[in-house]
Amino acid sequence: MALKIAVLKETNEFEARVAATPEAVKKYIAKGLTVTVTSGAGTAASYPDKEYEAAGATLASDNDKSAKDADIILCVQAPETLPKSKSGALLIGMLSPYSGKERVGKFADAKLTAISMELVPRITRAQAMDVLSSQSNLAGYKAVLEAAAYYTKAFPMMMTAAGTVPPARVFVMGAGVAGLQAIATAKRLGAIVSATDVRPAAKEQVQSLGASFVMVESEEMKQAETAGGYAKEMSEDFKKKQAALVAETLVKQDIVITTALIPGRPAPLLVTEDMVRSMKPGSVIVDLAVEQGGNCALSKAGEIVEVDGVKIVGIRNMPSRLATDTSALYARNLLNLLGLIVKDDAITLDMEDEIIKATVLTKDGAIIHPNFAQ
Ligand code: NAI
Repeated sequence: MALKIAVLKETNEFEARVAATPEAVKKYIAKGLTVTVTSGAGTAASYPDKEYEAAGATLASDNDKSAKDADIILCVQAPETLPKSKSGALLIGMLSPYSGKERVGKFADAKLTAISMELVPRITRAQAMDVLSSQSNLAGYKAVLEAAAYYTKAFPMMMTAAGTVPPARVFVMGAGVAGLQAIATAKRLGAIVSATDVRPAAKEQVQSLGASFVMVESEEMKQAETAGGYAKEMSEDFKKKQAALVAETLVKQDIVITTALIPGRPAPLLVTEDMVRSMKPGSVIVDLAVEQGGNCALSKAGEIVEVDGVKIVGIRNMPSRLATDTSALYARNLLNLLGLIVKDDAITLDMEDEIIKATVLTKDGAIIHPNFAQ
């Protein structure tokens, strides 16, 4: 019997993405799998039901019906109420394991083998499965467009008969995947761009995009990057030096895009209330870290806060605003991961494989991931 994949309709109100596009469905079917998609799963991402049907999927009226006899259940975010499913079925998605053991425990109680895509390691072999990269890239781009939409001035310099419009000054805090794409986008729009990060490797990447790099000169930066390429939490002394530099830089900016994250920890606070108040009226801050606590003290998830004429944009789930493209990339990330797991029409979880070991949270009713086990 062919293995069966279920593609869930997302239940989170801020989620427009879908875990499989019609293109991905075709590929699963070509591999010999069968696919059931919950009706309406792709609608918000501009993938209508009829395209899934044309790709060969069966439609089901709700998630319980899709999942009930599925071997593999695909989602973007785990639904609050898990669908009824077979014991041992795989649940694959961005399962937010860091948001609490209780959440991970639910997957174990449901006897699901839960695989969390955020935990895919940053190794060359896993690049095509790296959801944080695929989603952050587009989020960084969109953050700049959102900033431009809330900004009451232009980005590029314009010389007109009525006078010159000066270029916008954009400062990007955190020059990882999202930050680098934000820099590239702001440059394309004609802004003068600078950026900062704690990882020294970021300097060259920022400069190669034509932006200037603002950094704290410190020995500590040499150790700021983990083997996995992520940032570490910095010392109090470093944070003080960084705050002074940021305060000095911010007063000159029009647009600030913050993207700084530390995996498994709250986002570092980089922009204080005083710093916001020191900025020019009309300036815009887009806080991409807002759902991890925020890089700006005043940002609120899902809100546009205005303080002394400075707008702080706290859009939730930025990747969802480009749901057609982010879904397509996410769906390919899942397809690539499943290439490791589905072989000869059977599920094989090689727990010795670095990628599998890093991502499986629960199995046989227990939490097996060392970071989340009791
Ligand atoms: P992230 O989303 O965890 O963090 C965003 C950025 O914020 C990072 O550049 C981080 O250094 C920076 N940051 C953290 N604390 C900060 C602070 N206090 N002040 C200023 N900046 C701060 O990281 P992301 O974007 O997911 O990736 C980080 C790096 O990982 C990439 O630039 C790349 O070098 C590496 N990477 C490697 C991959 C691979 O080999 N497969 C795939 C993707 C990324």
